[in-house]
Amino acid sequence: MTTTEYKPGLSVEDLPPELQTREPLKLASNENPLGPSPLALQAIRDNLDKLNIYPSRQLDSQLCQAIAASISDQLGPENIVVGSGGIEVLEFVARSHLTTPDAESVLPRQSFPFLARYHGRSGQKINFYDLDEEDFSYYPERIAAAITPQTRLVYVCNPNNPTGTYVPANTLQQIIDVIPDDVLLIHDEAYCDFVDAPDYPDALPYVLAGKNIFLMRTFAKIYGLAGLRLGYGIAPPAVIERVAGVKRNFHVNKLALVAGLAALQDEAHRQRTIANNAAGKQWLTEQLTRLGCRVWPSQANFVMFSHETVPASIIVDGLMALAFIVRPAFGLDNHIRLSIGTPEQNVRLVESLTAVLQQV
Ligand SMILES: Cc1ncc(COP(=O)(O)O)c(C=O)c1O
Repeated sequence: MTTTEYKPGLSVEDLPPELQTREPLKLASNENPLGPSPLALQAIRDNLDKLNIYPSRQLDSQLCQAIAASISDQLGPENIVVGSGGIEVLEFVARSHLTTPDAESVLPRQSFPFLARYHGRSGQKINFYDLDEEDFSYYPERIAAAITPQTRLVYVCNPNNPTGTYVPANTLQQIIDVIPDDVLLIHDEAYCDFVDAPDYPDALPYVLAGKNIFLMRTFAKIYGLAGLRLGYGIAPPAVIERVAGVKRNFHVNKLALVAGLAALQDEAHRQRTIANNAAGKQWLTEQLTRLGCRVWPSQANFVMFSHETVPASIIVDGLMALAFIVRPAFGLDNHIRLSIGTPEQNVRLVESLTAVLQQV
């Protein structure tokens, strides 16, 4: 067995030569298995020979305008901020809102750890709240209990990464009700395009009503542009002004801006991505269940599972030895997060997992 261990951000290129010969596969970072939006790729090709010129401010606001129009005719460019990936957009929010040493954030423990890492560097205090240990529901009262007079940010990830579970509309309303007006709620919607639950919240009315809320989205997943780095936020103009205030000039690169504009037109790729994900998620859920795993219902482009008897670390290591990268679910001891692949990739996962479980 290989001694390669999973590390966050590990890619197939990082695997040792003996695994490179086995057609390594990664279903660990919730990337789009169908590839980038073809329209975005064409826009990139069309702009390669213009890279000697800085991206214009106009191009940035054109993308903001197009994003706004793709969501609602009640939104304008003043409601949008773009950054080099959703992570950077979250960093803009942190930098613009956690401006004093005593500023605190309220973050879920079993969730996307970016803001926690940011605090790790800044030294500012985090008050964590726990999700339900069985079904990973969010509890408004736990969020309320974690808020102090120093709280500046509350983060809710919906659908939640790594569990795939979601916060329904009525719970989001209860969460909003317990957050003081001067505290910003970040509603991370990185996976919203994959949602089919009818009671998933539409948070746009809160933005339009001028609530202190920031919706984060990304081109990484649905448009297959993770490698390009492009994300955005949707918020009332005053929030956007504050967040965008920390951006440098010529911030997002020109290829990302033109690709974003083109991707928004690529409804065919979007629909293919959604259909592949829904079918793959259902099939993988059935197969994992058959193999003795518990699979949490997911609204995202990944599923989280744990095996009845075999520890997650054995499964992750066993799959790694077969040149297959999956991710231990962060914030949880014994769970694995698996991205949905193409039908062929999903079959290979099931075959590889079957082999690992037979060896135990
Ligand atoms: C919940 C969540 N938020 C934000 C991001 C950041 O997205 P990006 O890749 O655009 O930086 C991710 C990426 O995986 C994510 O899972």
